[in-house]
Amino acid sequence: MSELKRIPQHVAIIMDGNGRWAELRGLERCEGHAAGVEPVRASLRAAARHGVKFLTLYAFSTENWGRPSAEVDALMELFCQSVVNEAPELIRQGVRVRMIGERSRFSEKVQKALAEIEQRTAEGKTITLILALNYSSRSEITRAVRRIAEKVAAGEIAPDQIQEATVAENLDTAPYPDPDLIIRTSGEQRLSNFLLWQASYAELWFPGVLWPDFNEEEFDKAIDEYAHRDRRFGLVKGK
Ligand code: IPE
Ligand code: IPE
Ligand code: MG
Repeated sequence: MSELKRIPQHVAIIMDGNGRWAELRGLERCEGHAAGVEPVRASLRAAARHGVKFLTLYAFSTENWGRPSAEVDALMELFCQSVVNEAPELIRQGVRVRMIGERSRFSEKVQKALAEIEQRTAEGKTITLILALNYSSRSEITRAVRRIAEKVAAGEIAPDQIQEATVAENLDTAPYPDPDLIIRTSGEQRLSNFLLWQASYAELWFPGVLWPDFNEEEFDKAIDEYAHRDRRFGLVKGK
């Protein structure tokens, strides 16, 4: 390996612990979500500083619709406000915003805000910020299977032509490399339906810090940890 530190090309974060952060302070859960915006900015800054090219943030799962409606509504409002407020700074930093997940379930207002931020940041060259919204891996894989089945039914491909690449090409993440490093804050050690296909060889890192307390220093720690991991991809070293 070179003297240079090994940097992940793609970092994905399960931003967890907003509710607990708020409850610990006697605040409403929604205030924990609002406090989760600054760590998003910090992670973006740190990722760009390290030369990470893709940062995926799990912001809302398909399961999260089952939360109390006041919390869901507050999260939707926060997404809209944040993409509008952050747009100038994102453009200044050269961030390209994209999303994965099924956007058709969102209100028109949310869909419009998302489409606008994608369009306004389309020329960003520094880093791609991928927001996982109304995302779950099983839903994504199911939609991919459906698309492939439609192509088979239409005679565009034969079943024996379906390769791993065919599946990957039909996932929402088709344009992006697999994550090298997945971070989940708050001490929980599970993936909660996030990037299950793409995480096959990702390194996992579970800091105890709650998401609103995550900062550039915590991101740096994750990058340091990653640099010391021995990635073998099922092979034997040096052979
Ligand atoms: C993560 O924080 C944010 C979302 C899921 C939208 P949580 O809201 O899950 O926080 P905890 O896990 O209840 O503390
Ligand atoms: C995962 O966190 C989803 C997001 C961070 C958006 P959850 O808090 O919803 O996951 P569980 O319920 O602890 O598995
Ligand atoms: Mg949680």
